Amino acid sequence: MTIELTRDGHVATITLSRPEALNAFNTAQLRDLLAVLAEVKTDVGIRAVVLTGAGERAFAAGADIKEMADLDRAGGLAFGRLGHAITRGVETLPQPVIAAVNGFALGGGCELALASDIRLASENAVFAQPEVTLGIPPGWGGSQRLVRAVGPGFAAEMILCGRRVKADEALRIGLVNAVYPQSELLPKARALADQIASNSPLAVRASKELMRLAFNGQAISGLDTELNLFADAFATTDQKEGMRAFIEKRSPTFEEH
Ligand code: COA
Repeated sequence: MTIELTRDGHVATITLSRPEALNAFNTAQLRDLLAVLAEVKTDVGIRAVVLTGAGERAFAAGADIKEMADLDRAGGLAFGRLGHAITRGVETLPQPVIAAVNGFALGGGCELALASDIRLASENAVFAQPEVTLGIPPGWGGSQRLVRAVGPGFAAEMILCGRRVKADEALRIGLVNAVYPQSELLPKARALADQIASNSPLAVRASKELMRLAFNGQAISGLDTELNLFADAFATTDQKEGMRAFIEKRSPTFEEH
């Protein structure tokens, strides 16, 4: 399994585990994660969820570039839909989700953290939406949720430059709630989850749903548009060039207008 689900009391921990690719998401892992989310959703014994990455280097290094490289528009749309199903699945999970970001959270990894209710980071955490460096826009909700999380100015800088944001800056711009040494990250996330789990499950679920309404009206059409533009990018030579360049470990040359 590329996804591990463990339960301790009323808290579930979901661990992204594909260490050979820094936990980057291929289709198999996305399907595993969807199945785990479905299982958690219907388990009333689970009152809070901690989401983290295996190892000490990465939460998730994004969508699998090697798998995306040769996709056409239809393939890009299908991959985008799967990513949207995951991030929407986390966002609409009845139980609150705490992302314990233990290293790189890039592209889809950052978007998964953004779909979570609370983000905590280790000192070595790095956040970025580097899609434009690969010839595509963000495609799993980042164009909408990053704006909500850090405001339009910082979101624009991250999305349009692909700039990496380290843990201390992430804390300053409100992308994460707190930063801890790596060894303390999971215990702190767990303590927060226990605190949530000690409250009324009904009231917690209602509160999560209500908070979602604070942003969801416009975001739904924004997410639909994002999915279409993400898919359109897979019909361009820039996407092919951007992803080939990553795989071949060289700088891309972009030409489409
Ligand atoms: N998709 C597919 N494979 C990935 C990946 C991704 N998103 N991110 C990392 N990997 C793979 C690398 O290709 C490498 O595999 P290899 O050993 O077969 O070459 C392995 O994971 C280790 O990564 P590597 O690049 O060698 O480690 P690093 O420490 O030099 O750099 C990163 C780490 C995260 C900075 C770098 O891997 C990276 O930039 N990844 C892509 C991030 C990204 O753009 N994500 C958004 C996708 S939309």
